[in-house]
Amino acid sequence: MVTILSGIQPTGLPHLGNFFGAIRQHLAVQDEAAERFYFIADLHALTSITKPAELRENVREVAATYLALGLDPERSVFFRQSDVPEVTELMWLLTTVVGMGLLERAHSFKDKVSKGIKPNVGLFTYPVLMAADILAYDSNVVPVGKDQVQHLEMTQDMAQSFNALYGEVFVRPEARIPSSERMAKVPGVDGQKMSKSYKNGIWVFEEGKALQKAINQIVTDSRAPEEPKDPDGVLLVEFLELFLSADELADWRARLRRGGEDAPGYGHLKTRLREAIEAAFGPARARRKELLGDPAELERILARGAERARRRAAAVRDRAYAACGLR
Ligand code: TRP
Repeated sequence: MVTILSGIQPTGLPHLGNFFGAIRQHLAVQDEAAERFYFIADLHALTSITKPAELRENVREVAATYLALGLDPERSVFFRQSDVPEVTELMWLLTTVVGMGLLERAHSFKDKVSKGIKPNVGLFTYPVLMAADILAYDSNVVPVGKDQVQHLEMTQDMAQSFNALYGEVFVRPEARIPSSERMAKVPGVDGQKMSKSYKNGIWVFEEGKALQKAINQIVTDSRAPEEPKDPDGVLLVEFLELFLSADELADWRARLRRGGEDAPGYGHLKTRLREAIEAAFGPARARRKELLGDPAELERILARGAERARRRAAAVRDRAYAACGLR
């Protein structure tokens, strides 16, 4: 059976861009006949988050988010990276076969350095830890964004170098990148790409007045409702596209284009968007609150996942230790 591994960054509260860009792809894997491992990359997070309370909070938040949005911890193995010490053991082995030059060529490392971030060794060896994550579960398929493709290639490289020295120890993984048609483009309320750093996001679990306020910030113009409009130039339509059926969307677009009495004003579109967000995320929002209110249950789920993950990772570690003469 194929093994699919998804790594999740504990970045805190998800916005619509995170949902349509990554979370949805991660969860869709559950419909495939495969063994699935999902983990929260808390060790990697240490290369950027240095406040303990923030890290703890983010991990809980992202665990509750995935569970609330439908990750089933019975059908998939869901755990915290740091609960599987075999991963860091494997990382050491991989550091002994990876060239400095390969790591120096990593885009993500070079980007961070060029932004003026003073690199620590952890940032430099980030791809080695990621390779250990992947190889520890004999993963065949790893769904990632385009920005992670180079890390996957480096993982293949490390697996191959190790195997060339010590025999067929590691399984060669493949990246799976969502096709561009399936990747929804999510704009921010200002029309730029939705991003935490631009502060133009709408949180997936926002509710009540705060949700209304976020929606009200979606940029419009002063044209009257009756004035015919090209729907492609209306930012609110881009948001509605994420939620509405093709039929309903076509109807709104036609009415905007025609203008006149029957045409919706921006207020109508905002109301419809609000209803659509409520319908899409209302139930998950309630479930998330429940989970965050029961830290022991969250802990139990992650501990159970770690137990299952360790069983697989220990077997791979033993295989690797034996192959290179440590046992
Ligand atoms: N680096 C990944 C990201 O930024 C997160 C990650 C860490 C990961 N380890 C992984 C993803 C292993 C897939 C497999 O999104």
